[in-house]
Amino acid sequence: MSKTWDAIIIGGGAAGLFCAGVAGQLGKKVLVIDHASVLGEKIRISGGGRCNFTNLHSGPANFLSLNPHFVKSALAGYPTAEFIKLIQSYRIAYHEKHQGQLFCDDSAKQVVEMLMSECSRGNVTIRHPLAVESISQEGSQWLVKTHNGIEKSHAVVMATGGLPVPAIGATAYSLDIAKQFGLDVVEPRPALVPLSFTADTFGNLSDLAGLSVPIGIASGVKGARYGACRFNEDVLITHKGLSGPAILQASSYWIEGEPIRIDWLANVGQSGSARCDEIFNNDEHRLKLTETVLASVMPQRLAKAFAEQSKLNGRKWVEVSKKDRQALKELLTNWSVKPAGTLGWKKAEVMLGGVSTKDLDGQTMMSRKHPGLYFIGECVDVTGHLGGHNFQWAWASGFACAKSL
Ligand code: FDA
Repeated sequence: MSKTWDAIIIGGGAAGLFCAGVAGQLGKKVLVIDHASVLGEKIRISGGGRCNFTNLHSGPANFLSLNPHFVKSALAGYPTAEFIKLIQSYRIAYHEKHQGQLFCDDSAKQVVEMLMSECSRGNVTIRHPLAVESISQEGSQWLVKTHNGIEKSHAVVMATGGLPVPAIGATAYSLDIAKQFGLDVVEPRPALVPLSFTADTFGNLSDLAGLSVPIGIASGVKGARYGACRFNEDVLITHKGLSGPAILQASSYWIEGEPIRIDWLANVGQSGSARCDEIFNNDEHRLKLTETVLASVMPQRLAKAFAEQSKLNGRKWVEVSKKDRQALKELLTNWSVKPAGTLGWKKAEVMLGGVSTKDLDGQTMMSRKHPGLYFIGECVDVTGHLGGHNFQWAWASGFACAKSL
C-alpha cells in the first residue's frame, strides 16, 4: 500500500521550503513537489543576488491586504529575530543596508542552501521537476496526481508564489486551486513594479537621467482597497521617467488613472513645506539667483531644471513675487504626475492580491472551508513593502502552517 504523507507542499520556493523544513523537523512526513528544475530561483535573484532576507522593523504596518489584521498572528509567532537566529546558526554573514533591511554579505545562494539543509534535517522528500496534474479530496485525504502517479496526504499546502517573472516559472496554480475549492481570490496585480510615464510628462526633467534624489512620495487614495501611502525614499530619474525604491513602494498603492505626488524637498523628520519656508524666508538668499537658492537644498542640476520649469531662472530671489514663490513651493513639495501604467509582471517583484484572507485562518493558514488545505507565502492576499518584508511573510506564514500540520 502506498504511503500517506502528513503534508504535500506544492512549490519549493521561500515559503514552501521553509515550511517543509520546520514541519519535517517536527516529525512530519513531508513531500515537496515543484515543477522547476532549479529550486528557490526567486531567492537566488532577490536583492540583486544578495537576498534581502528580512527587515529588522517588519510588522503589520508593512503589509497590504484587504484584511490588514490577518498578518498579525503569523508575524508575532515567527518574528524577524527568529529568522536572524537561523541565519546566524548557519554562519551566513549579513549586513543592514537601509532602514532595517538585512542582506547576505556574499550570496543569496546561501539562503537557498540553508533552506535545503533544513529540509534534509527534517527528512523532507523533494521531487522536481514534476508537474502537478490535479488535486482532489477524498474523505479526509488529499490526492495529488502527477505524471508519476497519485500521492496521498492528510494535508496539501499551496506555496506556488505569485505571478511576477513568468520567465522563471511563476504560475497562478495556487489561485486556480483556491477557485477550484470555492475560495475567493482578490484580483492579482503587479506590485513593487516600475511605473511607466508618457514622454511629455516630465518637461525638462528627463534631461536629468541618472540622478537619484531622496524624496517624499504619496500614492493611493484613502478609503480605496489598499488605502494611501507616504514614503521617504530615493527616486531615480531615468530617460523614460521615474524609477527607484520610492516609485516601487508607491506602485503597490497606485490606482490606475490617479496621480502620484512627490515632495522633492522631504527630509527625514521635516516636511518639504517646512523646509521650503525655511529657505524661501532666509534673508541671505535675497540677492541670489533662484536656481542658486534651490541648489542649497537639492542637486544643482535638479535646481536648475525646476527654476527653468517655473520660468524663474536668472531671476534674483528678491524679485520673485509672492505668487510665483507660492507656485514654486507647490511644484517642489506637491508635484503631481500621472503614471501611464506599470511595467507589468516581467518587472514586478511581487503580486498584490491573491487568495482571500477571509477564507483562511490567520493562525494556521488553513482554509476555513476545507480542513487540510493550506495557502502560504505570496499566493495569499498579503503583500509586503519593499525591504525584506515579503520574505519575512514567506517565513512567518510557512512557520504558522508547519506548526499546525
Ligand atoms: P516563490 O516564488 O519563492 O516560490 C514558488 C515556487 O513554486 C517556485 O519554486 C516555483 O517553481 C513553484 N511553482 C510555481 N508554480 C508551480 C506549479 N504550477 N507547480 C509546481 N510548482 C510551482 N522579497 C524580499 O523580501 N526581499 C528581496 O530582496 C526580494 N527581491 C526580489 C527580487 C525579484 C527580482 C523578485 C521577482 C522578487 C523579490 N522578492 C524579494 C519577493 C520574493 O522573492 C517573494 O515574495 C518570495 O519568493 C515569495 O515566496 P513564495 O514561496 O511564496 O514563492
